[in-house]
Amino acid sequence: MNNSPQRYTITAALPYTNGPIHIGHLAGVYVPADIYARYLRMHGQDVAFVCGSDEHGVPITIKAKKEGVSPQDIVDKYDAIIKKSFKDFGVSFDNYSRTSAEVHHDTASDFFKSMYENGKFIEETTKQLYDEKAGQFLADRFVTGTCPKCGNEEAYGDQCESCGTSLNATDLINPKSAITGATPTLKETRHWFLPLDQYEDWLKEWILEGHKADWKTNVYGQVKSWIDDGLRARAVTRDLDWGIPVPVEGAEGKVLYVWFDAPIGYISSTKEWAAHEGKDWEPYWKDENTKLVHFIGKDNIVFHCIIFPTMLKAHGDYILPDNVPANEFLNLEGKKLSTSKNWAVWLHEYLEDFPNQQDVLRYALTANAPETKDNDFTWKDFQARNNNELVAIFGNFINRVVVLTNKYYDGIVPEPNVYSEVDEATIAELKAYPAVIASSIEKYRFREAQAELMNLARLGNKYLADEEPWKLIKTDEERVKTVMYVALQIASALATLSEPFLPFTSVKLKGILKITDAVENQGEKEPQWDKIATKRSLLPAGHQIGKAELLFSKIEDSEIEKQLEKLEATKTANAAENQKVEPQKEIANFDDFTKMDLRVGTIIEAHKMPKTKKLLVLKVDTGLDKRTVVSGIAEHFSPEDIIGKKVTVLANLAPRKLRGVESEGMILMTENAGGKLVFVNPDEDGVENGTTIN
Ligand code: MF3
Ligand code: ZN
Repeated sequence: MNNSPQRYTITAALPYTNGPIHIGHLAGVYVPADIYARYLRMHGQDVAFVCGSDEHGVPITIKAKKEGVSPQDIVDKYDAIIKKSFKDFGVSFDNYSRTSAEVHHDTASDFFKSMYENGKFIEETTKQLYDEKAGQFLADRFVTGTCPKCGNEEAYGDQCESCGTSLNATDLINPKSAITGATPTLKETRHWFLPLDQYEDWLKEWILEGHKADWKTNVYGQVKSWIDDGLRARAVTRDLDWGIPVPVEGAEGKVLYVWFDAPIGYISSTKEWAAHEGKDWEPYWKDENTKLVHFIGKDNIVFHCIIFPTMLKAHGDYILPDNVPANEFLNLEGKKLSTSKNWAVWLHEYLEDFPNQQDVLRYALTANAPETKDNDFTWKDFQARNNNELVAIFGNFINRVVVLTNKYYDGIVPEPNVYSEVDEATIAELKAYPAVIASSIEKYRFREAQAELMNLARLGNKYLADEEPWKLIKTDEERVKTVMYVALQIASALATLSEPFLPFTSVKLKGILKITDAVENQGEKEPQWDKIATKRSLLPAGHQIGKAELLFSKIEDSEIEKQLEKLEATKTANAAENQKVEPQKEIANFDDFTKMDLRVGTIIEAHKMPKTKKLLVLKVDTGLDKRTVVSGIAEHFSPEDIIGKKVTVLANLAPRKLRGVESEGMILMTENAGGKLVFVNPDEDGVENGTTIN
């Protein structure tokens, strides 16, 4: 680990421009990254905080097709919306670029060319999935199928989002084209592969040995399990027409894999920034004294911890990330956030309903950040965080301090008298906070850091409640001066220490307290953050503050109900969508049908496949034999409930190994209107006409 770096390069995952961004993005990636960057800048560090739009990749072409517009139209639209959301929420990127920018095309091409010329790729002709109907190769999100690792039936051609495994499209069981729904055939094509297997030993040494202590356990654990499973070469080129052309001869019609080009976007964005600032970009990516930190969500771990570092290492000119503090996922009201299902709180919509309340959302998301496990965002919790913490503690304390200072002293900070024991203890506690908060931030524990910030506000609130200056003023005016002086110092510290978390509030509070740069500096260079611990006086006696203004306001039940109703409406719309009957498939002739050997069978044994969420291992009496069938139904049935059940079995389905267990057939299932899987029995409650059986 690099303990006193000369500069920091901080990256935040480039969002895909196939939709706007929601609270999950903010909580998982952008707010933590922003807290970190702001904190470092406040300490005078040299920081490049970069991001940009990820504009290539299959989701964008799919979206464009669906809307009947060009991919460029899609990326232009969402790049603008996303960029505005970041600005609105105070995410303080030094630069926000896009992967369609010329500087990025050049940088990514050069990166590939350099690796190519140095023999870092394997060039190979292999059979890849092909959609005859669409006349197109299928990779990445153009193809879905069952994950060979966990049984998730909606895994993509490059990754299973359920277990996080990175896949090659040909690994999928029962692959299906996302374009036409057809079952793909295999067709030969030539591609360039990054031989990850050759880097296994190096990755083990660098991560498994080198970062055991400082990487988060959720990140380290995932990486370890992939490396332990063995790494395979991965194609870094694709047969597509949207992306960066592969810059070598004989590669017409091929583009760079989006996950090859996108992380290079961090470098391009840094270049763009440096050019604007008249700086040299290279030290930010090549100097060993630079600390490189990638902020991402957990579905990006493999790309940032294994693939991109291997690219950087193979290229040879670049430094490696010092840390990748990935977060787990945020759910919304108990359900997975989903752009396609519209199960989200969109940032641009939030601001329409809660104008100027960016900090409330930042606060609630950080307070509940999915740092070590998946977490749930609920509107009730959001309301409670605002009403019980921001309003009742932070806001209340500041309001009392400012109102009383104006009332008793016309807004002029009074001269303190002798400190009591309570004053001394309170000041000592105050002075400890900067280091406590800093230490949590430096360990990427942002929710802990923010909780300490709120504890400081609590300290102030309690101090005033205990000392009761509003009563003392009648009996001991001199004592009140000391109390108000101490309270004002806490208020000033809050204005400073809240900046990374609540940037808008910090600005507002500094405005109220009239803390200008001159007041902060008082002729010294030391960061204001650190001065809290060392200086006698943050707001000196005689300093004039401004009038009271509310920092936060109560959120009413009706506002929360409105949000919950919105989500209910989404649920209803999704249920209606699910009820839609799928169109009939291609005509099957009688031969096709008789090829399938369907039998009645009885489940005689059932148990869960270890370490999976979805798979059950069944023993089925088919009348022919008693055979093993692995079925992805564990989330819908418990083993003991289905023993003895009569089922329909596709008996002559080619055997497949799932997690090392050979499955010899398939149980036919369908889904009821509530989305629960049920065994094929059209009489079962809630099975509608037209429901497909598969
Ligand atoms: N667009 C990707 C996502 O949203 C993240 C890309 S991160 C980068 O999951 F490293 F490739 F830039
Ligand atoms: Zn999986």
